[in-house]
Amino acid sequence: MSVGIKNGKDVMQVVRTAVAQHGATRDELIPILTDVNHELGYIPHEAVEEVSRLIGMPQTQLFSVASFYEMLSLRPRGRHVIKFCENAPCHVVGGRQVWQILRDELQVKSGETTPDDRFTLLTTSCLGICAVGPVVVIDDDVYGNVEPGQVAGILARYE
Ligand code: FES
Repeated sequence: MSVGIKNGKDVMQVVRTAVAQHGATRDELIPILTDVNHELGYIPHEAVEEVSRLIGMPQTQLFSVASFYEMLSLRPRGRHVIKFCENAPCHVVGGRQVWQILRDELQVKSGETTPDDRFTLLTTSCLGICAVGPVVVIDDDVYGNVEPGQVAGILARYE
């Protein structure tokens, strides 16, 4: 098994701490993976291997769970994660244009990270705040009623 450092932290140590905190049981898989994702920024392959070994769950099932939950990522993400609501209520009030500008500004597609690791661009389903659509979320910041002309200024707030 490979041992590595991600995000400045020892992957094995992060996994073992998460498992020790929640318990080495399949019932705690989501909290364990959430902790690992939070600490490392994503869930590297060696972390999947170690969680699998410690809780006795096949790696294929772990990958399947980690792929299902949007809050978990099996790939490194940028320093800032942009989530763009792609559902119809946001779409029809200008979301399509905002989405186009976002992709133009960042020069990436959905699910990709900019070459400088500054942003990862994701789509999301309805965030429950359709009344202020189009909606863009960057990290913990929620932007509503976003107009195409505001996108560059919003992005400039994030280094
Ligand atoms: S459709 Fe975008 S927040 Fe509901």
